[in-house]
Amino acid sequence: MSATQPVDESVRVRVPAKINLSLAVGPARPDGYHDLATVFQAVSLHDELTATWAPPGEVVVKTVGPYADRVADDEDNLACRAARLLMDRHGDGGAWGAHLLVDKGIPVAGGMAGGSADAAGALLACAALWDLDLSPADLRELGAELGADVPFPLLGGTAVGTNRGDELVPVLGRGCFHWVLALSDEGLSTPEVFARFDELDTDPDAPRVPDELLAALGTGEATELAGCLHNDLTAAACDLRPDLARTLELGTRYGALASLLSGSGPTVAFLTAGESQAMDLAHTLRGELGTDAVRRVRGPVSGAKLLQVLR
Ligand code: C5P
Repeated sequence: MSATQPVDESVRVRVPAKINLSLAVGPARPDGYHDLATVFQAVSLHDELTATWAPPGEVVVKTVGPYADRVADDEDNLACRAARLLMDRHGDGGAWGAHLLVDKGIPVAGGMAGGSADAAGALLACAALWDLDLSPADLRELGAELGADVPFPLLGGTAVGTNRGDELVPVLGRGCFHWVLALSDEGLSTPEVFARFDELDTDPDAPRVPDELLAALGTGEATELAGCLHNDLTAAACDLRPDLARTLELGTRYGALASLLSGSGPTVAFLTAGESQAMDLAHTLRGELGTDAVRRVRGPVSGAKLLQVLR
């Protein structure tokens, strides 16, 4: 492909959010990260990203959708950084450019890897737009340079994450789980939650993924899974945001099988027995929390996917 391609060439991709079914956190490392042992699940809440051919060297991003006012469309935007990284590593002497349009459906700073999803989407969309011969593993490797949570949305499904959460092994599970999400108007800063974790737990165990969780995923039974959900960051997030303890408690009160903080929060995920139970719970929670704050999703869903290529 050359830099003289018509400007209306574009690629549209869809990228899922994630929740962590289990998140075990080890001690802080010298590089500022923590060793994790986590199980990610991709859920049916998505960002869509369209990359359109632009003059050489030009990478700009525009975010639209309900969360657009909380995202800075500047050089530091993760989608922009992802496109630039791809260009620097595989670009033909800066012959390419891209305009990125991000339609955000994933909450910002919600513990669902929304920013990471946009980086993942930009990598996939620009690789297709620029016709790069890169494998999914190549894209995930580049993604890990941008953030610990970037590789997972490229893979999707359910996967164990170790090291910083960026070394992934897919989990073979069965069934489809129905979740209700309680979103928050105000985000939580991931580094702040990890820092509070360090203050609250000065000698954490080496992180591991519980065998029972993997066995429960093998059964495909929500009732089995419910007993194995766990997030080591819960106490830290609730310490920073005391209202979260009440939200977590609402699930049990209104019939969820389990309540779980998603990643570093503040999104809370409620596991339900099935679709109709999820509908009932969502209805009740909407009354408690407000209409915009509650979403029904299912998981696992596939990772970042090409929806349309216009040439
Ligand atoms: O990699 P990413 O930029 O998404 O991580 C954001 C922050 O979350 C890190 O700077 C670090 O403070 C914290 N973090 C961590 N250990 C991890 C992942 C993230 O401490 N494994």
